[in-house]
Amino acid sequence: MPPPDYKKLYEIVCDLYSNTEHFYYGQWDETFFTLRVFETCKDLIRKSKASIEKEVILTAAIFHDIGKTKLNTEEKIKKEWDDHPIYGAKLTREILTKQGKFENDFIEKVVDLVKHHDDRPSKVDMIRSDELKILQDADLLADMGIASFIRPFLYSGKNKRRTLENVNYIKTERRTNGGISKENLYRLNLRSSKRVAKKLMKEAEKLDNKIFKMTQSELVE
Ligand SMILES: [Fe+2]
Ligand SMILES: [Fe+2]
Repeated sequence: MPPPDYKKLYEIVCDLYSNTEHFYYGQWDETFFTLRVFETCKDLIRKSKASIEKEVILTAAIFHDIGKTKLNTEEKIKKEWDDHPIYGAKLTREILTKQGKFENDFIEKVVDLVKHHDDRPSKVDMIRSDELKILQDADLLADMGIASFIRPFLYSGKNKRRTLENVNYIKTERRTNGGISKENLYRLNLRSSKRVAKKLMKEAEKLDNKIFKMTQSELVE
């Protein structure tokens, strides 16, 4: 089987996201997060000593959240968010089969990763393949560091929250909820991921502090 054309697969999923209201821009822009999960997987693959199926992981990274395209209303997002891996598994199988280039065994391995990408150590007790460990960790790490810094701004833009209000949100609420913090590093599978996470947290903290300083003014005291 020739190596997957990742760029083409990414374009297919971007097209699907472009037909949605919530996953093409703003805080849930999956065209951005998918790219970051893909690149973070590459980084974790490089760091891994296990013999892993790289192409399975990278293809799954591109497809892992595609089930969100089935959540087309606010109501559905609220009620069916947890089902997006199941929807995604089905869609992934359909799209990869339609390409006519992939062996069945390869497709099913990718589908399996998509299906279980949210079954993290903190949530589900199961035996995880090295491939699944990497995908799950990359999915969390992709939301950290600079990404975790810009996400609230994407959110505030989409939801018409003032920039200064947003900075305040980062200072207060965001510190205690959202993203991954030192307290929930246990959600990561691999030791190497925990090391990366700590580095990313420091990076985000630096950016947070910069914008706190930048917006300190007698006008808002
Ligand atoms: Fe997901
Ligand atoms: Fe994701």
